[in-house]
Amino acid sequence: MYRLIKPIFFQFDPEKVHHFVVKRLKWFHEHFPLGKTILRSSFDIHVKGLEREVFGIRFKNPVGLAAGFDKNGEYVEALSDLGFGFIEVGTVTPLPQPGNDLPRMFRLPENSALINRMGFNNKGVDTLAERLRALKAKDKTIVVGGNIGKNKNTPNEDAVNDYVKCFDRLFDVVDYFVVNVSSPNTPGLRELQEKEPLTLLLKTLQERNHKNGIVRPILLKIAPDLTNEQLDDIVDIVKETGIAGVIATNTTIDRSGLYNAAEHATETGGLSGKPLTQRSTEVIRYLSEKSNKAFPIIGVGGIHSPQDAKDKLEAGASLVQLYTGFIYEGPGIVKRICKELVN
Ligand SMILES: Cc1cc2nc3c(=O)[nH]c(=O)nc-3n(C[C@H](O)[C@H](O)[C@H](O)COP(=O)(O)O)c2cc1C
Repeated sequence: MYRLIKPIFFQFDPEKVHHFVVKRLKWFHEHFPLGKTILRSSFDIHVKGLEREVFGIRFKNPVGLAAGFDKNGEYVEALSDLGFGFIEVGTVTPLPQPGNDLPRMFRLPENSALINRMGFNNKGVDTLAERLRALKAKDKTIVVGGNIGKNKNTPNEDAVNDYVKCFDRLFDVVDYFVVNVSSPNTPGLRELQEKEPLTLLLKTLQERNHKNGIVRPILLKIAPDLTNEQLDDIVDIVKETGIAGVIATNTTIDRSGLYNAAEHATETGGLSGKPLTQRSTEVIRYLSEKSNKAFPIIGVGGIHSPQDAKDKLEAGASLVQLYTGFIYEGPGIVKRICKELVN
């Protein structure tokens, strides 16, 4: 079915198609007679062998939706019907911001890839917190991660305050946190991956990480473009600050994985999809080996098939996420991966 629809979607601007599709999906979930049941029976999968507990949270399956797809937490329930074991919302910033000028998302079909320079377009943490509060009041079973960042206009010296604001505001309504310092589309953000500012940021969040006896797992999302020395630092920092784990990886600024001079290949932004598959798996393996599996890793980057997911799990990931593979392969990919994992 998706094979028939995809060529039509791919005729139009990717960001417009994204909004068109998720809005229809939400409407179908909420208003179409038996919509929820139809979606769940087509895409969702419940098998005991897929369940797992990671950083103290129970996941119905290990395949999640990566950050950036539902930045404002508007579609969590409908997306959960598509079989995802968890949904990561955001990246959210303290204040709403429009993001970069359009167009800012590009398809590279010859490479099964996307380049994006969205720039953290989002409606701000207050709006997201209210929405998630309403969701949690209705349904506590969906595992939701909150991916947090800083506003574009906040200088790096004040970045900690932005992360703290988002952290405090979302504490009661998310199951885990992701500290995003790896997006290539906010000028200077990736400098926060350096040892000193990163340690300060994570320590500050960890100090606040308790409320009514609850401690939320905090994960750090890293870029695939870090050197081995920088990855060694990441292992040290995770151990030193005691955060729960790492998400590897965000999009890449490297273009060497593009196997031809495709249209849009020279656009500025983060590259995702198949050209990232191998590098992100390498980063997972390196972190897992260097740390002696000291902390869980969520593996993300170029998962387009069940084998890609298995490779990341075998390299040391405890859970996986996807975004670009979902666009190219369609919603059926989640169930296909889950079925293969059971086998
Ligand atoms: C259009 C788009 C927007 C994204 N926005 C975010 C974001 O806001 N925060 C974030 O941490 N990652 C963001 N990502 C990165 C994805 O979460 C993921 O780490 C990356 O795309 C690699 O996975 P994939 O190859 O399965 O897409 C975005 C990716 C895309 C394609």
